[in-house]
Amino acid sequence: MSILVTGGAGYIGSHTVLSLLEQGYEVVVLDNHSNSSFESLRRVKILTGCDITYYEGDVSNRLLLQNIFSENDIKQVIHFAGLKSVSESVQSPLKYYDNNVMASIVLIQEMIAHNVCELIFSSSATVYGIPESVPLNEDSKIGGTTNPYGTSKLMVEQILRDTAKAYPQLDITILRYFNPAGAHPSGLIGEDPSGVPCNLVPYISQVAVGKLPKLLVYGNDYPTHDGTGVRDYIHVMDLAEGHIAALKHKMAESNCRTYNLGTGKGYSVLDLISAFERQSGKIIPYQFVERRIGDVAECWANPSLSQQALNWTASRSLDDMMRDSWNWQQKNPTGYE
Ligand code: NAD
Ligand code: UFG
Repeated sequence: MSILVTGGAGYIGSHTVLSLLEQGYEVVVLDNHSNSSFESLRRVKILTGCDITYYEGDVSNRLLLQNIFSENDIKQVIHFAGLKSVSESVQSPLKYYDNNVMASIVLIQEMIAHNVCELIFSSSATVYGIPESVPLNEDSKIGGTTNPYGTSKLMVEQILRDTAKAYPQLDITILRYFNPAGAHPSGLIGEDPSGVPCNLVPYISQVAVGKLPKLLVYGNDYPTHDGTGVRDYIHVMDLAEGHIAALKHKMAESNCRTYNLGTGKGYSVLDLISAFERQSGKIIPYQFVERRIGDVAECWANPSLSQQALNWTASRSLDDMMRDSWNWQQKNPTGYE
């Protein structure tokens, strides 16, 4: 019996594939490498000593999915594959709706056709839009997303809820990730953004390693403890383990469940800079600039539902995340190249 991991060569996917293999799962990966290389999986194989069945291709390729489901005894699917750049989604909305929404529909149709019933979907805290209050519970208001990327996640969530009602044999878990950071402690796998990073931690890492001159801090006039934006950063290995917990704990009361994967702690941009400096011994030059359009002041999770229902807690600290990000960046200054 195998588990299909779409987008398994990507940042969160590769760390989750590693955790799955360590837990004894047999893994089949489907990835089109639009934002990754096979090198991440080669390194996962080195770390685990396990084989990975691998298909290079697109989730929207129906024929390929039919082959994958026919050639392998797949019981569960974790669907990471998706495009994730907020700014690119504003420039190219159709690309995002096509890749994130249409491809997900093809995947669900083929799962149903092949009687593969268990799905875990990668959603995001972005579905909460501009939070009315924090921390965010799973039943906090969703919607009001400010970009097509966020809207694509919201749409797939709704499609999954509707489909779960129509097909009671399905068993769907929607995981809303907060802000993933860090890397596997080996420093062999990590986040490898293409071009100039948009996200805070890879940006700081590239400043530390000398690839970028300084960090631009978007806004120091938010109503937060130091004026900079506050987020719930979660170690990517905690996130990976959250998927294992979701595979193991099925709640009978509903066939479509949603969980926040966060730590419940909010840290500001300045908190991150300090933690990174502590762990790396480097000074991170930074400059305050205008707020970034679409950013919210603060966003963090109430993780108590996932803790209770999945018996899972994020155990790694902010310092662990910064140490492991720095370790990865130092060992791989040009990523997987
Ligand atoms: P990533 O870009 O590193 O990984 C995504 C992987 O999917 C890549 O390997 C890419 O090549 C592949 N892919 C994309 N579209 C595909 C398609 N149509 N067919 C086959 N493969 C395809 O991103 P990540 O950070 O690992 O994110 C994984 C998932 O988690 C995404 O769905 C993302 O939207 C979601 N998410 C990420 C974050 C974050 O900050 N990293 C936060 C919340 C949610
Ligand atoms: N920030 C800076 N300078 C930078 C980059 C970011 O000051 O160069 C600040 C932002 O203003 C924000 C914080 O750092 O206050 C975090 O920003 P990120 O871009 O790292 O993360 P976001 O919270 O904006 O968004 C991320 C993903 C989204 C996802 C969301 C919730 O990019 O896709 O987390 O999961 F939806």
